[in-house]
Amino acid sequence: MKILAIETSCDETAAAVVEDTAVLSNVIASQIEWHRPYGGVVPDIARRQHRRLLPSVVERALKEAGLSSPTEVGAVAVTQGPGLAIALEVGIQTAKELAKEHSKPLIGVNHMEGHLLSFLAHSPNEVPPFSLDEVTPFLSFLISGGHTQLVLVQGVGEYEVIGRTIDDALGEAFDKVARMLALAYPGGPEIEKLSYQGQAIYSLPVPLKRKSNLDFSFAGLKTAVLYLIAQHYPQYSLREISAGQAKLPTKFVANLAASFQQTVEEVVKFKLSQALVKYSQLKGVSLGGGVANNRRIRQLVGRLAQERQLPLLLPSDRRLYADNAAMIGVAAYYNYQQGKIITDFSSFDRKPNLELGTQ
Ligand code: KG4
Ligand code: ZN
Repeated sequence: MKILAIETSCDETAAAVVEDTAVLSNVIASQIEWHRPYGGVVPDIARRQHRRLLPSVVERALKEAGLSSPTEVGAVAVTQGPGLAIALEVGIQTAKELAKEHSKPLIGVNHMEGHLLSFLAHSPNEVPPFSLDEVTPFLSFLISGGHTQLVLVQGVGEYEVIGRTIDDALGEAFDKVARMLALAYPGGPEIEKLSYQGQAIYSLPVPLKRKSNLDFSFAGLKTAVLYLIAQHYPQYSLREISAGQAKLPTKFVANLAASFQQTVEEVVKFKLSQALVKYSQLKGVSLGGGVANNRRIRQLVGRLAQERQLPLLLPSDRRLYADNAAMIGVAAYYNYQQGKIITDFSSFDRKPNLELGTQ
């Protein structure tokens, strides 16, 4: 069955067409240029851009899938949450209108479930690389600008969050540290790039290392970076540094980026190793979210999985790591199989704080 999927939970305006788990098209219009001057996502701008971009993004997704009208799909799917309320709203309204106009079933998808199942997506000329039955239960490590979660997945809809951040998300920590170093937004890719040029000579605290639970915390690490900069460059106030107004030498910035990256890897290694010991019946480890673009984090998680003879469950296309609509389509396909469709459109609404396993 073909599903038209729409995703507008944050700052990517995205639409895709999937056929079961095969991705026929995956269109992503990034709004980063509009948000960059503000150093983060501005909800009002996101809503405006979603409204402006979504009609043509949907049209392109249909066209690239070889379809001329939404009548040719079997269902319409949309991200219901979590995300920015006024951004989610745009996608939901459009999806409802399309489903109504063309008399199609509507499927509401949890954005995080999309990330969780994204590794099952594949190109139409490729056999599915993984079968869900073969790899469950698996451990999913979701790392994005808004979330950092460890999830135990027993099957579709059977999710247990076994660890989460108690403050900043990992991507957010990358972005905030990048801002102190006056790097462009989003800062994750900038820090990674610089980390290869610098040396990890600064020692930063490894948060929650001694705690035996699987939760994460990155706020302390971010503050440690702030104080480290202030200690080396006392001519700048903490406020100036936080706002990215300190003029720092390139070498110092590269070394600090390398130190931050290394500390993050230590945290990931520590927490994931703990989870893999605790849940010994696992059949795989998956990774999702924008921070999965970080090659060293990807390799580290791959090594940890390999040490336990577990496959690393990653989408073959890197465009499926960060926000996209193909993963929403794939999650919708599994939900549809379980009969989870929206029958009452009028009560179907955005859920900005939707948690996994509660839909
Ligand atoms: O999944 P995503 O596109 O959007 C959210 O749902 O948040 O993730 C975006 C986050 C940003 O914080 C960005 O800095 C981070 O992913 N990111 C990276 C890298 N590429 C993107 N963080 C570290 N290293 C990267 N290479
Ligand atoms: Zn996301």
